[in-house]
Amino acid sequence: MPRAFLIDTDTASDDAVALLMALGAPDVCVAAITTVAGNVSLEQGTRNALYAVELCGADLPVYAGTSKPLMRAHQDATWFHGQDGLGDHGFRPRHRTAAAKHAVDAIIETIHANPGLTLVTLGPLTNIALALLREPGIVAGIGRTVVMGGNPCCEGNVTPAAEFNIWVDPEAARVVLHSGLRVELVGWQLCRGEAVLSPAEIEGVLSWNNPRARFAIESNSYARQALMTQTGEDGICLPDPVAMAVALDPSIGTAWYDHYVDVETRSELTRGMTVVDRLNVAGDPRNRPRWSSLLDRPPNARVCWAIDVPRWKELLFSFLR
Ligand code: RIB
Ligand code: CA
Repeated sequence: MPRAFLIDTDTASDDAVALLMALGAPDVCVAAITTVAGNVSLEQGTRNALYAVELCGADLPVYAGTSKPLMRAHQDATWFHGQDGLGDHGFRPRHRTAAAKHAVDAIIETIHANPGLTLVTLGPLTNIALALLREPGIVAGIGRTVVMGGNPCCEGNVTPAAEFNIWVDPEAARVVLHSGLRVELVGWQLCRGEAVLSPAEIEGVLSWNNPRARFAIESNSYARQALMTQTGEDGICLPDPVAMAVALDPSIGTAWYDHYVDVETRSELTRGMTVVDRLNVAGDPRNRPRWSSLLDRPPNARVCWAIDVPRWKELLFSFLR
């Protein structure tokens, strides 16, 4: 019986590779893709998702969702992914168009139609938050929730304190984290260092000389330059495909712990910071001073602290050969 996936995405170059993985997984049925403003505008992200669906020869609905965060102006990441989000190479859908229904309605209906599905979020959590606010009971219908987002106890990538998906809409992230969903949090730190595709691995993928392999690399050409500028690393950093790999095979996450996680929404300095109670100082009375204001905050998320890098890459490559 194939596993039902629902994917919410702000489709830019790394999201698109994650979509190729899910759409190519033999034991997965992607029931729907929903799009949200994030890396690029809602309209552009929707076009990019439709392009990925066409490239895979898949036939499933793509629903456009919200064009801005719950309470803030939309701020994109075209500085990292290119103006069109796919490296500005002219990748655009030939004939597919988005389904008429709004993504928030589609999320609720898809969960009802596929009880126990795996929800994978690759962008800001605006759509998911709105669906939860409208119908909190959908929590019971979701089997796993894999969130690409956050920077647990480490540096951010859009500010010193925050990772992009959470930073764009921190209020939405708080709604999701306090909804009762069993969130599996896959932070951006997991896709750095050894997990980055090296120049040699990039050449290897290109040598397979097929449309998916070429697209995976070409659409990330702008991101490769941006990574070099941002961190000095030469390669392609793929946070969404890492999260998708964990969604497809949870054992690729090799260190998981339950923690209380919350998100800063008031300070501009630390807006979007995922505050992770790594030592459980807020959950265990024995661990905290009596004056602590953080009382009785039990774990609300499973945080992934490490992945099996060779197995992450092998799974990715298996969809590009
Ligand atoms: O911080 C990385 C995340 O933000 C990825 O999902 C990337 O696509 C952007 O949405
Ligand atoms: Ca994304």
